[in-house]
Amino acid sequence: VRSDRMNVALDGPAGAGKSTVARQVAKRLGYVYVDTGAMYRAVTLAAIRSGIRPDEADKLRELVASLEIALMPGPEGQVVLLNGEDVTEQIRTRDVTLSVSAVAANEAVRAKLVDLQRKMASERGIVMDGRDIGTHVLPDAELKVFLTASVQIRAFRRFQELKEEDRVPIEQLEREIAERDRSDEQREISPLICAKDAVVLDSSDMTIEQVVEAILDMSRTKMAEA
Ligand code: DC
Repeated sequence: VRSDRMNVALDGPAGAGKSTVARQVAKRLGYVYVDTGAMYRAVTLAAIRSGIRPDEADKLRELVASLEIALMPGPEGQVVLLNGEDVTEQIRTRDVTLSVSAVAANEAVRAKLVDLQRKMASERGIVMDGRDIGTHVLPDAELKVFLTASVQIRAFRRFQELKEEDRVPIEQLEREIAERDRSDEQREISPLICAKDAVVLDSSDMTIEQVVEAILDMSRTKMAEA
């Protein structure tokens, strides 16, 4: 264990810019980036392919037990593997996005993925983004950031990310994001809440670079304290 490395937990609602920020912070620190949302998305894709609905808890439990999910560094960022198959692109479709929150509420799904996430972080030097990283997955992370932004800003950012064929009215995205926030915040197991010891950053009026710099500043302060 190298004591000069720490773990950074980055949580917050959909579309706050977590993954972009986490990727850049990891790069600047020379750390490994772990996108936990991608892992829930991979399970959701597998469920859709098997015709399993998010409310079929027992079937989901069986399914997740049979899955092997891995994250690998690739030339253009993180590659997501589902039983060895590269599903990096396929986990970003609207179908997956619309079902993932419900699948992520399943206890067996969370148990398996949290276990995997803790293993990934055991060597330290990790920037992990998600919903429950600071509160549940890595409660001892040295730096915890809760990144938010207004629903309008988040919908606008998502709109810009969508491929042309996937474009839907921005008002619809706002409704979907608000709905996903609600279900992530209200689920029974590990809901989306801000850890007591997390620093809250509202990115509504900040650029990605400003958010990244703010987090790097905090990480330097933490390192100096250690
Ligand atoms: O960050 P994202 O949009 O890719 O996340 C997809 C979904 O996965 C999101 O609706 C909530 C869920 N999720 C979760 O429950 N816990 C995490 N640690 C990460 C994501």
